[in-house]
Amino acid sequence: MAKNVLSFVCQNCGTAYNRWQGKCDACGEWNTLAEEDTTGATSVPVSIRSKRKGRLFTLETLTGKTQDAPRLSSGMAELNRVTGGGFVRGSVLLVGGDPGIGKSTLLTQATSMLARAGHRAVYISGEEAVAQVRLRAERLGLANAPVQLAAETSVEDIIATLSEGTVPRLVVIDSIQTMWTDTVESAPGTVTQVRASAQALIRFAKKSGAALILVGHVTKDGQIAGPRVVEHMVDAVLSFEGEGSQQFRILRAVKNRFGPTDEIGVFEMTGLGLREVSNPSELFLSERDLGSPGTAVFAGIEGTRPVLVELQALVAPTSLGTPRRAVVGWDPSRLSMVLAVLEAHCGVKLSGHDVYLNVAGGLRINEPAADLAAAAALVSSLTNAPLPTDAVYFGEISLSGAVRPVAQTSARLKEAAKLGFGRAVLPESARGDPGSEAGLSLNTVGGLTTLVADIAARGQGRPSPAGDPEKMPHPPDSAVRTAKAG
Ligand code: TYD
Ligand code: MG
Repeated sequence: MAKNVLSFVCQNCGTAYNRWQGKCDACGEWNTLAEEDTTGATSVPVSIRSKRKGRLFTLETLTGKTQDAPRLSSGMAELNRVTGGGFVRGSVLLVGGDPGIGKSTLLTQATSMLARAGHRAVYISGEEAVAQVRLRAERLGLANAPVQLAAETSVEDIIATLSEGTVPRLVVIDSIQTMWTDTVESAPGTVTQVRASAQALIRFAKKSGAALILVGHVTKDGQIAGPRVVEHMVDAVLSFEGEGSQQFRILRAVKNRFGPTDEIGVFEMTGLGLREVSNPSELFLSERDLGSPGTAVFAGIEGTRPVLVELQALVAPTSLGTPRRAVVGWDPSRLSMVLAVLEAHCGVKLSGHDVYLNVAGGLRINEPAADLAAAAALVSSLTNAPLPTDAVYFGEISLSGAVRPVAQTSARLKEAAKLGFGRAVLPESARGDPGSEAGLSLNTVGGLTTLVADIAARGQGRPSPAGDPEKMPHPPDSAVRTAKAG
């Protein structure tokens, strides 16, 4: 009889140790080791394993007939876009996101759409009772969709039920952390359980050809909670993001074996569920505060789609020894870098100021191309000089203060022209770009100093923020001493 083996398994990365320790050596996290019974993890006894002779299989070449992955449209254009054209048969998708962001809502809508289209769609909730799911469906106006619904957590029972009758086209498991399997001893939610449950469900999906969606919880730092290993086991990982207070939600492909990553789908949470937003730029720019200093429109690219979004900056005198730097929707280390370049190369003194930067609408920008827009917004706020309302900004700033070219200039310009913008401030190299004749007047900047000088010139002679000169510790011309270009 196999002896029960207790080991200490890191709940973050899944590494097993045979004694407890405070820090996981593999991933560096503290206090993540929990005692688990890993007896069932490898269920084939050693005696059998060593005697088994390997089966011969044929090796193939890279060329050959393959069919395009058969897709099942989800009935929601934004969801199709993120998955690369719909759900692939036999594929497994992991959807992660903060609690309350709308994962269950999104998947209830998707299963209902498929069920209404005549496919067998199953929704298994491990977190909510059937009545709760029904209540949500009623609120969404989907109560009459022929979705097959259950509140279950036993993986064996679920697989047995799903194997009955016609193969389901879509199965949603909400959430993987609540599932448990008999084959391992540890408690639900532990790494061993989650991994074993996911493995069993994935095996079912691959064998039956059903598309499987697993919902995964997210820890405070945005990782899909528990085992990163699940991320490696699935075909695609989608992350559902958004600021809790904002109604916009962004579905982002983090990994996708069947389509592009970095593609986003934009939704709006309304009283009647999630509404798809097919033109996100219009939405992100809809509540622009025209003519106030500290805002710049960034022409960005999300996946294959250009997205225009407003960056808002506030530079205010600090009362603290160490000034505050707060940023929402952008990388804080890039903000520090832009501030450092402004100080070092452009003579913009910010050490006595708190700096806040916000990306409007709850979007998260990952592109370095936002550097130029961020710098423009910061300088505009500091000098109290509003930027032209019909201008978009993009370009990467290098540590030397040069403005570097970015990809997809023409797509950015076309989107800006479509939305009625008249000019673009962009890297010098973009002038020769074939797609740059989008009808916008192009204002190329080679270095950040040029941009700072332009904005400061606009701010000359404008009244200070509160109309009270005493309230502004640095008048514009002393705050911005434009350095000699070059
Ligand atoms: P839910 O899908 O339960 O989130 P998750 O499964 O990611 O935890 O969404 C819950 C939130 O969405 C809740 O705060 C209420 C809000 N909501 C709406 O605003 N409108 C709706 O129609 C629905 C169903 C939910
Ligand atoms: Mg939920």
